[in-house]
Amino acid sequence: MNLKTMTLEWTGDSLILVDQRKLPHVVEYVECRDYREVARAIKEMIVRGAPAIGAVAAFGFVLGARQFSHLKNEEFIESMGLVYKTLASTRPTAVNLFWALERMNRKIQQCIYDERLLWILEEEAVRIAKEDIETNKAIGKYGQTLLKDGDTVLTHCNAGALATVDYGTAVGVIRAAVENGKRIRVYVDETRPYLQGARLTAWELVQLGVETILITDNMAGWVMKQGKVDAVIVGADRIAANGDVANKIGTYSVAVLADRNGIPFYVAAPTSTIDIRIKDGTQIPIEERSHEEVTHIDGKRIAAQGVKVYNPAFDVTEHNLVSAIITEKGILKDPYIENIKKLFP
Ligand code: MRU
Repeated sequence: MNLKTMTLEWTGDSLILVDQRKLPHVVEYVECRDYREVARAIKEMIVRGAPAIGAVAAFGFVLGARQFSHLKNEEFIESMGLVYKTLASTRPTAVNLFWALERMNRKIQQCIYDERLLWILEEEAVRIAKEDIETNKAIGKYGQTLLKDGDTVLTHCNAGALATVDYGTAVGVIRAAVENGKRIRVYVDETRPYLQGARLTAWELVQLGVETILITDNMAGWVMKQGKVDAVIVGADRIAANGDVANKIGTYSVAVLADRNGIPFYVAAPTSTIDIRIKDGTQIPIEERSHEEVTHIDGKRIAAQGVKVYNPAFDVTEHNLVSAIITEKGILKDPYIENIKKLFP
């Protein structure tokens, strides 16, 4: 079994990832041959973006199972517990990671005595990856109905092909609109401190031939106030049962600005990003990242020595600021609690 997209290639023996830390300067690849290398790739941001992390972790699980396949049932299950823990401890906020690992783990529980277990696990990981592409195309199909010919969209961070297995969620909506013949222009927030917008989203959109205007994050409000934005579309890392949305730091500010300026604020995400076990956004764990991401740009220090730093990687936007959540099953609107519940009977 193999699969190749912009983000990843499963060769059947190893997982090859485009090194997202190096984009857009160079397109380099990193090959992961065991589950620890996959965990390192997620932790070190070689791959990032909620759905991409989930799919990559599933392949890491397959590599772990192969590594421990010589062990007897109980020892095998114990070792797979370690594989699960190692992959799950890489990044805390995006729920797709845990969703994919739980899905893989269920296969072990169901098929532990099946001699085809390794093949079943590989098949499940490939299925997760392929489903992600289909899911994103469905999100695009629904989401593009919210955009008109000539609209200008503002997006934050990278919710494009690179953040998923392919096609993207927020960028997928833009792509689908363009594929439907609509002329769409996009303002891309650079997304400090990690610059996913400037480095990744702008790179993807320019390659797609979409008119792309890069702005620094603090310009978003003024651009909106000048009437230059018709809709904001972002992705999500975790959505609580009440519709509160965790996404890249800065998303909350963009949502408040959109509200203030009467601009719809849409979240495009697969239902695997919805965590119904979490009542509201206050319970979503927010990753804090290294101080260097704030004090340095491209390896060069820009801040005074001795300064303190706070670097939360995500924030939470309350559901009352969200105009709609675009999923592969349709467009959800308020009341989110009821409408999300209907998706998880
Ligand atoms: O820290 P990152 O780059 O993994 O954060 C990514 C985001 O916040 C994306 O907006 C989110 O994962 C949605 S991706 C379809």
